[in-house]
Amino acid sequence: MKNILVTGGAGYIGSHVVVKLHEHGYNPIIIDDFSNSQHSVIQGIKNITGKDFKVYEGDILDQSLLKKIFGNHKIEGIIHFAAKKAVGESVEKPLYYYKNNVSGLVSLLEVVKEFNVKNLIFSSSCTVYGQPDKLPVTEETPKKPANSPYGNTKQIGEEIIEDTINSGTTLKAIALRYFNPIGAHPSSEIGELPLGTPNNLVPFITQTAAGLRDSLTVFGDNYDTPDGTCIRDYIHVMDLADAHVRCIEYLEVENSDQHFDVLNIGTGRGNTVLEVINAFESVSGLKLNFKIGDRRAGDVEQIFAQVDKSRQILKWETQHSLTEAMRDSWKWQQKLSNKSSSDSVS
Ligand code: NAD
Ligand code: WQD
Repeated sequence: MKNILVTGGAGYIGSHVVVKLHEHGYNPIIIDDFSNSQHSVIQGIKNITGKDFKVYEGDILDQSLLKKIFGNHKIEGIIHFAAKKAVGESVEKPLYYYKNNVSGLVSLLEVVKEFNVKNLIFSSSCTVYGQPDKLPVTEETPKKPANSPYGNTKQIGEEIIEDTINSGTTLKAIALRYFNPIGAHPSSEIGELPLGTPNNLVPFITQTAAGLRDSLTVFGDNYDTPDGTCIRDYIHVMDLADAHVRCIEYLEVENSDQHFDVLNIGTGRGNTVLEVINAFESVSGLKLNFKIGDRRAGDVEQIFAQVDKSRQILKWETQHSLTEAMRDSWKWQQKLSNKSSSDSVS
């Protein structure tokens, strides 16, 4: 069974990818420092797969740990999720973000080179496009200057990998530019676990509906969109996870020693904030308490992907609708709420 190292494998996207890798016959090995995830995620993965995957608790900046992992296991490929992702926090703590996300990647690549690992997937983001001049965005759409240190770490990360390959390192790598991941595993065993107040729309919606937040503020309804609210491309995390497995499979058969490419991973459809709220209300049967507020600084008005390239290269299609994603997010939130109320009773 081929070993795939999943950095950040206890996180939101990484945990779903671990499950998909297992379904496709791979043996995922996790490294995570649990700085933004909980140990219960590992139990959730076990409940779904019936397997105990090897988990190394530690930091990707710790090269002695990385060398130990590469020494203990023959690693066929790496999916590199481990990074900090809060845009606002990155503005307050840029050095922390550059150290974790950029130095972390450099640390990993140095060991990748030493151990001659062949295949790498890098978690990039649609944030590299900023507010594009033309929609939908293709992989050729020019990048705009990053509007946060976080966004910059993704732009720099892609460049570091490409430069490393161009310098002669035998490595095949693909940067997947995710649009907006939402949803959870349909079993509700794993899902998004935001620590503190969520920044992202969907966990804020579900926490409001669960009574953990008073109300949702919709950030602006005077944009140049059909209902005035911003447009994003929301992709079910299971579809996103599937794209990673197909990408690993593609890299394995890609017939060269060196390769670098970028792929958009979205649905190709844009939805407004109010459409997301409507989808939530229809699956939950609840009326969401929300109000219209000011625009959020730094928000782009609209962005959605063109996904022809990833469809063609990965032979991949999204399978889940916005409604299904909202249903799975809500089921997951209800499970979390039930668990915390039974925890507080016991
Ligand atoms: P997450 O925070 O849930 O998962 C990241 C995991 O990495 C966490 O478990 C965290 O503990 C771990 N980690 C962080 N720094 C580490 C380090 N130095 N060493 C070891 N482990 C470390 O985030 P996610 O939503 O699953 O995102 C995964 C990746 O996808 C990130 O690189 C993120 O920037 C990128 N991304 C996420 C989104 C999104 O909206 N969720 C969108 C685009 C790109
Ligand atoms: C979605 C929409 C908000 C919260 C972020 C990162 C980006 C990338 C994806 C990692 C926007 C609106 C939100 C709320 C709202 N991540 N909203 N009320 O802004 O597309 O991007 O995640 O790479 O880098 O910045 O996602 O979920 O924060 O917002 O009205 O309480 O929901 O204005 O239109 P966003 P989001």
